[in-house]
Amino acid sequence: MVELDVSIERRGVQISVGKIIGESHLDARFKYNEDYLSDTDAIPISVSLPLQEQFFSVVTTRTFFEGLLPEGFSRRALAINMHEDEDDYIAILKELGSECLGAIQILDGSDRIYKNEYRELSLDRIKELAKEGATKSTDLLIETHLSLTGASGKVGVYSNDDGKTWYLPVGCAPSTHILKQSHVRLNDIVVNEQLVLLAAKKLGIDVVDSKIIDTGSKRDDAILFSTKRYDRIINLDSQLIGNLPCPLRLHQEDFSQALGIPSKLKYEKANKGYMRLIFDLIRHVSSNPIEDQLKLWDRVVYNYLIGNTDAHIKNYSLLYNSDLNSVRLSPAYDMISTIIYKESTKSMSFSVGGEYIIDNITDEHFRRALKDVHLGERLAMDRYYNIKDRVGSAIKEAGEELAASGYDNAAILADKIAAFPQITKKKDTI
Ligand SMILES: Nc1ncnc2c1ncn2[C@@H]1O[C@H](COP(=O)(O)OP(=O)(O)O)[C@@H](O)[C@H]1O
Ligand SMILES: [Mg+2]
Repeated sequence: MVELDVSIERRGVQISVGKIIGESHLDARFKYNEDYLSDTDAIPISVSLPLQEQFFSVVTTRTFFEGLLPEGFSRRALAINMHEDEDDYIAILKELGSECLGAIQILDGSDRIYKNEYRELSLDRIKELAKEGATKSTDLLIETHLSLTGASGKVGVYSNDDGKTWYLPVGCAPSTHILKQSHVRLNDIVVNEQLVLLAAKKLGIDVVDSKIIDTGSKRDDAILFSTKRYDRIINLDSQLIGNLPCPLRLHQEDFSQALGIPSKLKYEKANKGYMRLIFDLIRHVSSNPIEDQLKLWDRVVYNYLIGNTDAHIKNYSLLYNSDLNSVRLSPAYDMISTIIYKESTKSMSFSVGGEYIIDNITDEHFRRALKDVHLGERLAMDRYYNIKDRVGSAIKEAGEELAASGYDNAAILADKIAAFPQITKKKDTI
């Protein structure tokens, strides 16, 4: 029997919104409760879950709530550790739903009360986390009951002094940062992400606040990628947990959740038109659609130029304000040059003007894509060429800065990216 309570935080207060009910994960369905529906300030918890009295379908329920969970290897490792079936998203959510991305909380209504606390993390535990790949992060996820989507090994942690002391959030205590681990097969992935985000910032792209944490040698097995959560805010009147200020939760959902597309379909196949869907979404729901469409366009262009074939629809998100009545495109995150790895696919996560293979995409494909995007051709292509003209030097500058702080490989990586044909080739003459 499944019965999970779903709540959302509004201005710092958790409000019950509904329940997920069923015999098992195979037939579990979400329904808003009547009190919430009669609240005049009620907003849907997802674009894909409009306010309605009826139960949502099994698939719609699963698509949104499974979208909160870790994916791929991290999900498998978690399920094994918890002795649960990997497919049973409800069982995993029940264990980890007390702190998710955004402002949703999922509790199983049992008497199991976790004490909210922040437990100081010793340097040794952070070193272990950096060293041991996804298994260590799985232990920590279970210890903290915290669910973070995405495929890479990661944990949510708390810091009030931006990284001088780290704490594990326990119970329903919110985290403030996400720490991502290196990858056993993909060298320099932490440096790669920091480099690409740093260069994006130089180009005026609104990116997450991030840095590399070094626990010793500055090599892959000693470093972590740290990003400050944009969906957590500490302010002057924050309540305390112990003697530490507890952040407010802001709601967010990724584009796959908002569009009602299951995580397993996050890569577009058969020209399904994801480019059109994501621009339609932002145009319809953003509180500043013009600015956000341009921001989205710049990110799609940038991901192509730096060779990010993993910019799928879970790597773009909507961020709500604390009243839940305004929605914007979230800052950019998870930007990596994937094609520098020989194992990487050359196929973009969604087609651009009908073409998937990065080497085949030309300026003309971007021009064609504009039919789906509804931006003026002149404006959008000016932005495209502007980014293309500046991206090589932005990447090199970022590489030099990181190399100067001891991450030597950053400069080599930067040179490789700056030499990609999509950056160096001349403007198409058509
Ligand atoms: N700085 C951040 N603040 C809030 N949420 C974030 C931040 N960075 C990433 N996220 C969220 O966490 C999820 C996983 O992070 P991501 O960097 O995409 O990891 P992965 O490499 O595993 O895909 C993202 O889909 C996004 O919703
Ligand atoms: Mg991701």
